[in-house]
Amino acid sequence: MKITWLSHSTFQIISEDGLKILIDPFISNNPACKIPFEDIEADIVCVTHGHSDHFGDAVLVAKNNNAVILSNHEISIFSNQQGVEAIGMNIGGSVTYKGVKFTMVDATHTSSIDFYEDLIPAGSASGFIIELENGRKIYHAGDTGLFGDMEKVIGKIYEPDIALIPIGDTFTMGLYDAAIAINWIRPEIVIPMHYNTFPAIEQDTNLFNQIVSRLTPESKLLVLDVNEFYEE
Ligand code: NI
Ligand code: MN
Repeated sequence: MKITWLSHSTFQIISEDGLKILIDPFISNNPACKIPFEDIEADIVCVTHGHSDHFGDAVLVAKNNNAVILSNHEISIFSNQQGVEAIGMNIGGSVTYKGVKFTMVDATHTSSIDFYEDLIPAGSASGFIIELENGRKIYHAGDTGLFGDMEKVIGKIYEPDIALIPIGDTFTMGLYDAAIAINWIRPEIVIPMHYNTFPAIEQDTNLFNQIVSRLTPESKLLVLDVNEFYEE
């Protein structure tokens, strides 16, 4: 399987059996994104919440690829109204799509569709646990602050192997809270996200590496460049 960071919280995961999973596509207004819109490939588009830097391009990407959107109930209805096939779910629920299991988990954040004239309510913000065909589990935290169930639920119940964690501060956890989240979750591999896209979320990944390696040396921090991938 292969995990490619397309910048911000946008990842493409290709599973063992070739399912192309795109999470939170933020392409068109993303100053850090280096991939042309036409080159984005997906079979399923996971959306953690309604904000423009997560849901903004999902409908268009899904249309271009004939892909299905997987999101909370409210965003799935909105997507249906835009003419896209969407699977709705909610926190605590799981959906298996072509052999890959997606579980929606909590995130401490807000959710609205914020890129139209009026704000449209968009359910709760969430994260995903994605269990691949071989049993490896990837946690995409979405946008979130630190919350206690990262330890009790994410860490102890779901036990992800790989965690994609926001570190940008301002809108999500910053470096120190993210390091605590990693300590609570104890994944084998951590990939930071939601940073350096614009000035408000600039972060020093060397400092983050120092904090994480001191606090949780058993978790390996993998700082990817934009378009770089991790493969196993
Ligand atoms: Ni957000
Ligand atoms: Mn965001």
